[in-house]
Amino acid sequence: MNRPDPNAVPEFDFVLFGGTGDLARRKLLPALFDAHASATLHPRGRILALGSQAMSREAYLDMLESEVRPMLPGAVAVDTWRQFLERVAYQQVDARAPEGFDALAELVQARGAPVVVCYLATAPHLFVPICEQLARTGLNHAGVRVVLEKPLGHDLASSEAINDAVGRHFGEEQIYRIDHYLGKESVQNLMAIRFGNALFEPLWRREWVRDVQITIAEELGVERRGNFYDGIGALRDMVQNHLLQLLCMVAMEPPSSLSADAIRDEKLKILKALRPLAQHEVAERVVRGQYCRGAAAGNPVPGYAGEPGIAADSSTETFVAIKAEIANWRWAGVPFYLRTGKRMQARVAEIVVQFRDVPYSVFPRPLDHEPGNRLVITLQPEESIRLHFLVKQPGDTQALQPATLDLQRMLPRGQGARHERKTGAYERLLLDVIRGRLGLFVRRDEQAQAWRWVAPIQQAWTDSGLAPKLYTAGTWGPAASSALLSRDGAVWHEEL
Ligand code: BG6
Repeated sequence: MNRPDPNAVPEFDFVLFGGTGDLARRKLLPALFDAHASATLHPRGRILALGSQAMSREAYLDMLESEVRPMLPGAVAVDTWRQFLERVAYQQVDARAPEGFDALAELVQARGAPVVVCYLATAPHLFVPICEQLARTGLNHAGVRVVLEKPLGHDLASSEAINDAVGRHFGEEQIYRIDHYLGKESVQNLMAIRFGNALFEPLWRREWVRDVQITIAEELGVERRGNFYDGIGALRDMVQNHLLQLLCMVAMEPPSSLSADAIRDEKLKILKALRPLAQHEVAERVVRGQYCRGAAAGNPVPGYAGEPGIAADSSTETFVAIKAEIANWRWAGVPFYLRTGKRMQARVAEIVVQFRDVPYSVFPRPLDHEPGNRLVITLQPEESIRLHFLVKQPGDTQALQPATLDLQRMLPRGQGARHERKTGAYERLLLDVIRGRLGLFVRRDEQAQAWRWVAPIQQAWTDSGLAPKLYTAGTWGPAASSALLSRDGAVWHEEL
């Protein structure tokens, strides 16, 4: 008897709100194209892009041709691209006007695809009106999944209000809160390495880990998103979601299974165990920065306050570094240094688990000695997982030298080619939505807890009225960021 393939992607309608927007063009449509090009999508899967502008299907496809196709890496075969376009339609739907939704529902219902994904790549204030209209027109039946992009609110109260309103029309099992960092290959592999091997488990705790650093540094500034970003800042844009989710993946206990709730229950426990910062601790444990004029890739660039759409006296932060602590038996006393910033020296996203040094070394140390054991999970620009340790220098010496083991490249012989094509984060997550897998999406209680944890930081900043510390574009952030670690005798990974 043939068993159903658990990886099969069912027939679907992918309804893309914000179909002409930045996210759709830069991430979602390229991800759908990749899934199409690798023959992963169901042949009758269809993409229905929606936007507020009146536009013919031809005009929309022309836009894909000129704005999406050139961004796809590698050569795109003409036939593959043409077949992809055959899946795509465009319809004008104004999120605030009911008429468009009636037509949309008719169209979707006439097709009767078993899975309907409604991806809300729109401003968050449209989430509720869109969900209300979907429900009014019957597009909230069990086959419908709604994907919510961040930011979901700007604090606990506003995110709860959105969640309550969406929850009136959709069950929690229909709601996919996306955090694209959870879709990255190395983050997935971190789970595999931690929970598929017994080796790390005894070391993965306060007795052996000195500190953990999680960095998401971007070279880019706010680009064209100034209007959006200025009301948000790095704490809400990156820390509340991506950085805390990565922290959960490092710190969580082994889940009892790979089911969505088993994983999310463990992540929630970590978020609850994060020690809340008292307001008076914020100045000491959190560094808040904003970039000023400097250089990026060798070219002069303006400061944040000189970017289009930003008020000259804006006090929005573009950089945050935090010393966090997890109050549980495994992690008590281990600093988790979190850091993110725009216009930094390099684009890098990585998790560094720094193990403790040997208690006493009998070996002569080379002058450029670097701390021994480190597991470095790099998410960007390349994905890798490297274990750093010390080995003997070859020859007539007893001195040590650093060596690196790349755990992600060590696939068994013959498997390399099969695994060569990398699945992008958005592609993986979109396929998970279509397949109905919630494990890599954020549950409502996780999201609320993350908002709860960042609230005192935001509050302390508001109360103090202090401006962020300036840092030159193209550097690693304000000097206070290095000082945050040096007080504990630690250094950021790139300073080693
Ligand atoms: C988004 C933020 O969630 O992540 C952006 O809103 C940020 O400000 C982006 O630039 C970074 O994602 P990635 O995958 O390019 O590192």
